[in-house]
Order: sequence, then C-alpha cells, then structure tokens
Amino acid sequence: MSGDMHFPARVSPDELSIQAEYSEKVRELLSLKYSRRPMAFVHTYGCQGNVSDSEHLKGLLAAMGYGFCAQAEEADLILLNTCAVREHAEDRVIGNIGALKQYKARRPDAVVAVCGCMMQQEHMALRVKNTFPFVNLIFGTHVLHQLPEMLYTVLSQGRRILRVPDGAGVIAEGIPAVRDNTFKAFIPIMYGCNNFCSYCIVPHVRGRERSRRMEDILAEARDLIGRGYREITLLGQNVNSYGKDLNGKPMFAELLRRINAMEGDFIIRFMTSHPRDCSRELIDTIAACDKVSRHLHLPFQSGNDRVLKAMNRHYTREKYLDIVRYAREKIPDLSLTSDVIVGFPGETYEEFQDTLSLVETVAYTSLFTFIFSPRVGTPAAAMEDPVSHKEKTVWFKELTDLQERIAARRTAEMVGKTYRVLAENTSRGDNSVICGRTSGNIIIEFPAPQSVIGTFVPVTVTQARSWIVTGALEDHQCN
Ligand code: SAM
Ligand code: SF4
Ligand code: F3S
Repeated sequence: MSGDMHFPARVSPDELSIQAEYSEKVRELLSLKYSRRPMAFVHTYGCQGNVSDSEHLKGLLAAMGYGFCAQAEEADLILLNTCAVREHAEDRVIGNIGALKQYKARRPDAVVAVCGCMMQQEHMALRVKNTFPFVNLIFGTHVLHQLPEMLYTVLSQGRRILRVPDGAGVIAEGIPAVRDNTFKAFIPIMYGCNNFCSYCIVPHVRGRERSRRMEDILAEARDLIGRGYREITLLGQNVNSYGKDLNGKPMFAELLRRINAMEGDFIIRFMTSHPRDCSRELIDTIAACDKVSRHLHLPFQSGNDRVLKAMNRHYTREKYLDIVRYAREKIPDLSLTSDVIVGFPGETYEEFQDTLSLVETVAYTSLFTFIFSPRVGTPAAAMEDPVSHKEKTVWFKELTDLQERIAARRTAEMVGKTYRVLAENTSRGDNSVICGRTSGNIIIEFPAPQSVIGTFVPVTVTQARSWIVTGALEDHQCN
C-alpha cells in the first residue's frame, strides 16, 4: 500500500448528520434521566494523538449535554481511551477497568465505555468484554464519530455494544473538540501509519496513512490563532509524509510555511518525524520559518544497522547521522530529542553499544527510552529473543545513566542565556513558581505571577540541576 495514491475515506456529511440526530436524542434521554447536568469522566492513555481523539470525544459528549468532572466517582459516564503500544500500558488499563467494579456496583445506572488502540485489537476487546461484564460500550479507533448512536443504543436499550470494525480507517471532519488547554492546541494533520516497523502495533490499530485536506488544517489553525492560541502542535505518526496519499508527494514543508505565514504571535510544534522521510527541504523550512520551534523529535530506535534493518526502519545509522549533521548546520540552536528501544529481539550487547555511541554522538536534549515489549500480531513478537528481561534492564540503566550525564551537560550550557518561554502553568506544590517551555521544548521553572501564564516571556537561566532548569523573569516583554 505504501506509495500508492488513494484518497482517504471521508465520513460522509449524511453520516455525520445522522450522528447529530442521535446526539439530540441522547440529550433528550439524559434530560429525562437526570434533573441535573450529567457528568462524564474521560481518561486518556498513550500519545498526543490519543489526547486529541479524547478532545473530540469530549466535544461529542458536550454536544449531548455532558459536563466533565475530574473524579471518576462523581461521573455518570466513564470513558477510558486506551493505548496498546507496550504491555505495561495495557496492564495499567486492565487494572484500572477492574477497579471500576466497585463504582459500577454503587452506580448501576452509570455507563462505562472503553475505546482506543487497545480495543482495536480484537483479542483485547473480547478480553475486556468477557472479563468485565459491567463495561457497557467497547469501540475501536475507526468509529469515534459514531459515539452518539452507540451511546443512544446503550442508554435506550440497555444493551452492551462491542464495535471494532477492521479497515484502513476514515477521516471525520467537523467533529467538535473540547480542548484541554486554552492557549495550547493539538491539530491532527494525518492519521494512521504505513511504516510497519516490525515491533510496532500502531499501523495495526490505527490503519493506513490518511492526510487531512490542507484547507481543513489551515482553517483550524487560523481559527485557533484568531482565538489567541499561542502554541499549535501538528500531530501525526509520521508528519514528514503528510500529503503523500493526497497527491503523491509530501506537503509537510508547505503546510509549515503556510501556517508560519499566518498573522499572530504563536509557536508551531510538530511530531513525530520519521528519519526515512526527513528531507533537507523540511530542515531548510524549519530554519526559514521563525514561528516553527527549534526542536526536532527524530526517533532513531537503534544505533546499529543490522537491528535497524530487522526493525524495518528503512535508514542506516549513517543516514540518520547525516540528517542530524545537516540539521545542526542549518539550525545551530536546534534541540534534538528521540525514542529508542533497548533489547529488540536478537540484539546483542555489542550492537547495543552502537546505540550508546549514537546517543553520545548526537547528544540529545532528552530521550524517551523503552525496553522492547512484544505486541501480538507484529513480526518482532515472533522473533527469537534470547536476552533476559533482567539483562535488558541492566542495559537500559546504562543508557539512561548516559543520557542523564548528557542532559546535565546540555542544561549546564543554558546557564546565563535568555530564552523566550511560553509560560504554561504553576509548578507542582508552589503557586509562585511558573513552568514554561523554550522553543527547544526544554522546561524552565521561574518565580513569576500567575498572570504570565499563556504568554511568551523572557527568562534567563540561573541554575541547572540535572533535570530541573531554573531561571529568572526578565522585566522587558518578549516580542
Ligand atoms: N511514529 C513514531 C516514530 O516512528 O517515530 C513513534 C510512535 S510510537 C507511539 C512511540 C515510541 O514507542 C516509538 O518510537 C518506539 O520507540 C516505542 N515503541 C513502539 N513499539 C514498541 C514496542 N513494541 N516495544 C517498545 N517500545 C515500542
Ligand atoms: Fe510505529 Fe514505526 Fe509507524 Fe512509528 S513509524 S508509528 S514506530 S510503525
Ligand atoms: Fe498508544 Fe495508539 Fe498512540 S497505541 S501511542 S495511543 S497511536
């Protein structure tokens, strides 16, 4: 399928208006059932793509009349949006569903729904259905827009629903969103993945790459910026191939240029970039666009060519380092972050040393490190895996220790420099301390009034202690 031209299946306006009718019916049912506003608790596991999906699920729930609460116990509807990327993520979901048994015993009229990537796997959807009879609604990633109709059936007929259709996936435009933040927003630009890395479940549960139309993305960005949003994060599993399925060539650089050209004071972030499609044009575009963050999240997964091939990553260590060299030459203040897997099946300790040396060479700002987790149905799950988990844990520690030393070195270099920071929230446990993020995605803590939250402010770094970078607010405003 990769490389073929096909137009993504869009949910038709007719189907969306049928859902809007169901939404009204649910609203009526709820107003008869409750003499107050019904409340929903939505919990999200996994990546930013899932967070964005949950914002749209909340948009649908709000249209049906639901308000939102922060405690599951207070809710009339609990919705868990799950992740399947590693076993640990799935174990947490199973544990949390189990814990809802008491809640459901106290509130038999409440609705418990489970959706997302984990439920898109048939064996998991059936396991949840069979193990937890109190779960009313189970649905996969391709039918989020059908929530009103599914909920109507649950509420009006008391039936359990399991809906996990297979397929390449769809695009549903125009679903409202209840966003978690008032000045930072996610915009999905594409869904699914065609890369089929041999360890990864995502293409199996998210379907094929489907790019949204550029005009739809631009309209959403324009609306958010017009409403005062300060940070726009463009989302996709492989943003660099945005547009390939629309007209046969990638259009991500053009998309960046067009959002960058919009009037307003905002920063553009994006993730994730796949090294296979990370072109020089893209790097030149980042360099030329003043509103695009000086940050590139470029997962490398392994520093060894044999392992990269077994992972089906389609690049070599040298090609990766070449991209990094070019990017650093064009954007000297670029902050690089990455994902890496330790203990891929068959990886030897010598091969793992190549991962360490790549980390040393690139000197990332930060790293997301994972021990390989076998995923049912992926090729890597069937590969010989002779190294014990205990030994992988030792390698893992070696990697995280190395990265900690590098991060400490990197943050120490920040001391004395002034950064333009988007003030995000108060520090945990101290309302007089604000956490902000640099263009390079580094968090700085600094004393300031809460009124700065949601604005760009200049902050000079005064101290760097391992992960925590502290600074002082400069008295002039950033422009
Ligand atoms: N699309 C992104 C890319 O390829 O760069 C990554 C998406 S994935 C949700 C996030 C990270 O999870 C991956 O980069 C990889 O490091 C890790 N990951 C995925 N499958 C894994 C597995 N089976 N075991 C361990 N880590 C895994
Ligand atoms: Fe998974 Fe690879 Fe796709 Fe990323 S590019 S989502 S790691 S298959
Ligand atoms: Fe998890 Fe699905 Fe994202 S598997 S990481 S929630 S795409």
